[in-house]
Amino acid sequence: MGAPEEDYNFVFKVVLIGESGVGKTNLLSRFTRNEFSHDSRTTIGVEFSTRTVLVGDAMVKAQIWDTAGLERYRAITSAYYRGAVGALVVFDITKHQTYDEVERWLKELYDHAEATIIVMLVGNKTDLAQAREVPTEEAKMFAENNGLLFVETSALDCTNVEQAFETVLREIF
Ligand code: GTP
Repeated sequence: MGAPEEDYNFVFKVVLIGESGVGKTNLLSRFTRNEFSHDSRTTIGVEFSTRTVLVGDAMVKAQIWDTAGLERYRAITSAYYRGAVGALVVFDITKHQTYDEVERWLKELYDHAEATIIVMLVGNKTDLAQAREVPTEEAKMFAENNGLLFVETSALDCTNVEQAFETVLREIF
């Protein structure tokens, strides 16, 4: 799916949201650079990375934005969501509290983003199966009832990371 960065038909802005430590930055680095960091620091402010992928027969430049889950490090919220056509709301399957906060993140998202935004609920860290606190079925049901796409991922072992981003890009398209 790789392609020269300059060669694209569309740019889609996709935002990552969710509690601090759920793996947003590593999902981004895994998708855009195939990198993972065991000791990544909390994000301060906002950063974004891009990757151009083939969606159908169009080259789509995914511009993926990442910000801090921690309130004190967050940039101005409305600017973060402006123009976003997709969102990944991430929680950590080994920390139920991060899943409990999903509704709050969704509220913030819908308060600031276009109503047509494509939203995917992402349960990250499936490689830590022995420490799971959020059953797959529970999150899947929540997603279904709220009109969200759903996937479980591991930024560490690569499970479903490509699929998560590519599904969102395809739905936007
Ligand atoms: P904030 O920037 O504070 O909002 O955090 P974040 O959501 O961006 O989390 P980040 O990507 O910085 O990851 C937090 C910690 O979880 C780091 O130590 C990562 O190495 C680890 N981590 C991220 N993804 C995974 C994963 O899929 N599996 C495992 N085992 N650890 C992960």
